[in-house]
Amino acid sequence: MDAVGKGGSVPSPVEWSDGCLRVLDQTLLPDRLEVRTLCSVQEVVDAIRRLVVRGAPVIGVCGAFGVIVGLDERRPANVGAAREELERLTVEIGQARPTAVNLSWAVERTTSAARSGATPEEIRQLALEEALRIQNEDREACRRIAAYGRAELSNARRLLTHCNTGRLATTGIGTALGIVYDKAKAGESIEVFATETRPALQGSRLTAWELARAGIPVTLLADSAAGAALASGMVEAVVVGCDRVALNGDVANKIGTYTLAVLAREADVPFYVAGPLSSFDAALHDGSGIVLEQRSPEEVRRIAAAVVAPDVPAWNPAFDITPARLTTAFITDAGVLRPPFEESIARALSRAWPN
Ligand code: MRU
Repeated sequence: MDAVGKGGSVPSPVEWSDGCLRVLDQTLLPDRLEVRTLCSVQEVVDAIRRLVVRGAPVIGVCGAFGVIVGLDERRPANVGAAREELERLTVEIGQARPTAVNLSWAVERTTSAARSGATPEEIRQLALEEALRIQNEDREACRRIAAYGRAELSNARRLLTHCNTGRLATTGIGTALGIVYDKAKAGESIEVFATETRPALQGSRLTAWELARAGIPVTLLADSAAGAALASGMVEAVVVGCDRVALNGDVANKIGTYTLAVLAREADVPFYVAGPLSSFDAALHDGSGIVLEQRSPEEVRRIAAAVVAPDVPAWNPAFDITPARLTTAFITDAGVLRPPFEESIARALSRAWPN
């Protein structure tokens, strides 16, 4: 199948169909479009860890469906065994990657909803219903973020973004990129500067591909060119996604986000973080408690398949923390949250989750 080029739709990154969990293998993009069927807990965990499925909202949805994969694989004989299995799956799948709160949140939501089932069959049915609900809510959250973002950024035509926050990272139109899609759909003139996002190249492999397929003008930047781009005046706003937001507004997102936020502040360019409330962690006061995933040094020593720095030690955190003071506003499914974030985030969370 022709994976590169304009005009094609972007296949869904995660799908539950005919009782099976199917994911688009994002490690192969943009060269090949291949869908994998995940039939065991080990395959679900491995797909999440290897970035076959990636992006905070979509790993949450994948993890939620992974609970049903686990129940189908292990076939608990009675209700007690099924509840014990739910406990195990909460940990095994929910902790496959540590930083994006969406994963543990979605898995816990699914297993808690299923626990009240009176038989193994009913437990499976309740888990499936909850996973489908999480998927639908994710789609709706993307639509809302896009609408709020379009209003907030109505005067910004040239946006810089990092990593991939689009159709491949969610089950809807995306978060930061959802705003871009919505602006384009409304006929607004829009141009995106996408950072390549080393080491896994989500910007060049995924964002540039997604936008080019949608016919949206996109210019790729080496990560190290972002400062010059911001200083030159060619960028009107930076919009990124998030993996976990603390109550004070500190944000964990793809490594390099912090650098962009500092550079945007220096260049007087507004810096926005777009994401659903499911990426906010009501249990964390600030970013110091966020576990930042460390990945293999091998990813830094290579560019795609080519080894460029053999035998050299490399430091490879997958995420960094952007302190709240550098963010202009959060664009969420519950509206635009402005400083002081302690107040606006607490208000939004208590309205969304009254208990
Ligand atoms: O390692 P990844 O590719 O899962 O990292 C993804 C990001 O950091 C995204 O910016 C974030 O998950 C938001 S996706 C809507």
